[in-house]
Amino acid sequence: MAVRINPSILAADFVNLERDIARIASADLVHVDVMDNHFVPNLTFGPQMVSRIQDVSPVPLDVHLMIDDPDRWAPGYAELGAYSVTFHAEAATDAVLLARRLRNIGARAGLAVKPGTPIEPYLELLGEFDQILVMTVEPGFGGQTFIEEVMPKLDALSRAVRDQGLDVWLQVDGGIDVHSIAIAAAAGADTFVAGSSVFNAGDAAENISALRAAAAPHVH
Ligand code: DX5
Ligand code: ZN
Repeated sequence: MAVRINPSILAADFVNLERDIARIASADLVHVDVMDNHFVPNLTFGPQMVSRIQDVSPVPLDVHLMIDDPDRWAPGYAELGAYSVTFHAEAATDAVLLARRLRNIGARAGLAVKPGTPIEPYLELLGEFDQILVMTVEPGFGGQTFIEEVMPKLDALSRAVRDQGLDVWLQVDGGIDVHSIAIAAAAGADTFVAGSSVFNAGDAAENISALRAAAAPHVH
């Protein structure tokens, strides 16, 4: 199975986004965190900004919506051409219906769960989604510590994906660095979001390579 590294531009320089996005051209997808200051206590940007990011990015977008009422707002991100649109299970009224709408528009549909949200209710519905995002920090801010206690959810997900013969990407987001990425990969993740560990020190392209190399031996 492939290792996918999706740098989070939450850790980029917001007044030099085009420059910072050019630095991560070796990434698989660009992770774009949309926050509304309601679902999470932080605020980033909305569809107008994401549309411009999409215009300048050489790499397709992996949009992570940390917003209330995704049933209303998520389809707009698919319509502007995002490759992948992930909304939170805790915020959606009808997750399956919303995923179907996103797929009909042409985006990959992703379902995200916060660290305290059980995954069991969704194991029978995995065929409705292209990606499950298991948050490894409380959503809202970059630079937090990886919560290893959520790894059993990845075990359960990877077993269910295999048993059902599906091709659903399993993504982790929060506190991913060269150490935690190996733990998450061993637990079953194949798609890794990293903000601080890509942008905060050193060369972004080299950091992406180091993350890829650290995950690869554990992803099967
Ligand atoms: C947190 C965001 C993450 C964040 C990760 O709510 O969803 O995508 O950018 O940042 P790091 O990698 O610094 O934990
Ligand atoms: Zn995110």
